[in-house]
Amino acid sequence: MNDHHRVKLTGMSYGKERPKAKNPIKVEDLTFRDGHQSLFATRGRTEDMIPVAEMMDEVGFWAMEVWGGATFDTMHRFLNEDPWERIRTLKRYIKKTPFSMLLRGQNLVGYRNYADDVAKVFVQRAAENGMDIFRTFDALNDYRNFETVVPVIKSCGRHFQGCICYSLTEPRMGGDVYNLKYYLNKAKDLEGMGADSICIKDMAGLLAPYDAFEIVKALKSTVKPPIHLHSHFTSGMSGMAQLKAIEAGVDILDTCMSPYAYRTSHPAIEPLVMALLGTDRDTGFDIKHLAAINEILEKDILPKYKHLLDDTKVSIIDINVLLHQTPGGMLSNLVNQLRQMDALDKIDNVYAELPRVRKDLGQIPLVTPTSQIVGIQTVNNVLFDDDKDRYKMITDQVKDLCYGLYGKTAVPINPEVQKKALKGYSRGEKAITCRPAEVLEPELEKAKEEVKGLGVDMDDILTCALYPVTGKRFLKWKYGKEEPPADVFPKTIQQAKNEEDLVRKARAGLVVEKKEEEEKQIPARSEYIRTFNVFVDGDFFEVGVDEVGGTPLVNFIQPMPAQVPVMPMPKATVPKTPPKPKEPAPKAAPAPAPPPEISKATEPAPKTAPAKANGTPLSSPMPGMIVSYKKNVGDQVTEGETVVILEAMKMENALPAPVSGVIKSINFKSGDSVAKNAVLCIIG
Ligand code: CO
Repeated sequence: MNDHHRVKLTGMSYGKERPKAKNPIKVEDLTFRDGHQSLFATRGRTEDMIPVAEMMDEVGFWAMEVWGGATFDTMHRFLNEDPWERIRTLKRYIKKTPFSMLLRGQNLVGYRNYADDVAKVFVQRAAENGMDIFRTFDALNDYRNFETVVPVIKSCGRHFQGCICYSLTEPRMGGDVYNLKYYLNKAKDLEGMGADSICIKDMAGLLAPYDAFEIVKALKSTVKPPIHLHSHFTSGMSGMAQLKAIEAGVDILDTCMSPYAYRTSHPAIEPLVMALLGTDRDTGFDIKHLAAINEILEKDILPKYKHLLDDTKVSIIDINVLLHQTPGGMLSNLVNQLRQMDALDKIDNVYAELPRVRKDLGQIPLVTPTSQIVGIQTVNNVLFDDDKDRYKMITDQVKDLCYGLYGKTAVPINPEVQKKALKGYSRGEKAITCRPAEVLEPELEKAKEEVKGLGVDMDDILTCALYPVTGKRFLKWKYGKEEPPADVFPKTIQQAKNEEDLVRKARAGLVVEKKEEEEKQIPARSEYIRTFNVFVDGDFFEVGVDEVGGTPLVNFIQPMPAQVPVMPMPKATVPKTPPKPKEPAPKAAPAPAPPPEISKATEPAPKTAPAKANGTPLSSPMPGMIVSYKKNVGDQVTEGETVVILEAMKMENALPAPVSGVIKSINFKSGDSVAKNAVLCIIG
């Protein structure tokens, strides 16, 4: 450390009364967005932010990230919370610190490009609800996807932070795509668009410390806006990258409160405060105040979320990221996808195929949604291609990418792959070169129609415009038109402790089905029943727990197959029917019972086993959620024609008819969650 970094350290106080640094580093706290998104599947509830909100406001953060990214999706889908309400609620407690959100450019807070009319109103409503800083990124770093939202951010008088997604094609910065020149040019583009600050968004933790130094130093002498570093901890390098970035003159850093830090999240704030204490970049934060916040988080909040923490490994870093230059989340998705297809032995082929697919698709950065697009296509190639024929099963998203619907790729797409992908493509066989949203029809009026009688204001309309299926379902819950399922309700700290106790007992083999239970009458399930997973050595049980007088009561235990998806997936809702018979079900693939209204209305169809007598079933290849049926009962279909759109892995999958025939029965409806192998319809 240079001498000028050091101020007088003797008698230095932990508190705020110590002398102010010459150029204090500014810090954005990500606990309430990226923190729980990275560690707890974005399941953090507003009620669990309120107990520390006012204290967080006192820390002196430059901003707090509280919204955007996956929060909008998970809140309305899994938490039965109105995403818009979170901004307004937190604003009542956090009055001094500006709010920041992650805006996915023209993707807003979803996974595809939305039409301009939706994008404009969305930004306006976010600003009016209380958003101050719009951290804006595009997965392809194609800033034409900013052209609609930026003028609205500016006209609302808000802060436009432009991001450069940090990506690599080799172990360190350089090569012919993602080199220093690339990043400087992108920064100049953002400055030209009026960026109030520029963020290097290192979503995979790929940024090595000396590359951080080089890039920040060069950016500081090339562009005027403040430089902000967002670097995930995943690979273990980001603490070092932060320190080198500080030495190179970075203006703003991202951190989390320690219980929400590290692993795939961000470095913690507390070590940074201590590391800089007494230097000319001293944060000025009161470390004892931070400790007081941590105590509340640890004792009263985190026990409710601990079960979501991926504790399958002891190590808190993922060295695969260093080996493959791909985001950790993407790799775990690939593993889950292979596991669902019973093809986990092909993982090495996937690692080898991944860089080839990425190169064919224009060396795009790997971030939501491009990481899923590249990942799923890679798995398809490994599973279905042979030596003679590549890209046998091209996903719709790859077709869209080849058409130009996501924007311009870093290098041109392999023309052969592009030609194959666009053969018979619905929008046309010739790729576009214009700004992608220019080919999208306006969507807002349609959403207004959809929401009629369901929602009351523009925020409701936007919820539905962004998420037509789950958004509509949420509005039904919000306005009392439909009963939300039990698993969307929050759990209390006592429930969390009871569940943990039960899991401990199950692990110790103390939860057994007793003979005398057969004489006991089984109580009816209450509306508070919770379903959770219990793992005992290699076995996996789905257990329903109903709390009676504070004592957890095992209501049903259903053994599940050992090969289970561990990725958080939409959970099948617990049907409100009497408990299952007590004898354990055979170890077969489970399928949810049909929704009551359907089982009443139609002939009950066989659920798992193909029944040739009645026709051929179309089964779900993976767990997911029904987006829509493209056919009705009685419709004629030809083999290969799309029958169902199933959402899984954040992707919409078109499921083709396995045979030609007539749709005899349809077993689910839009918005239903389905298990792997669930029979979606019967073709006869
Ligand atoms: Co992030």
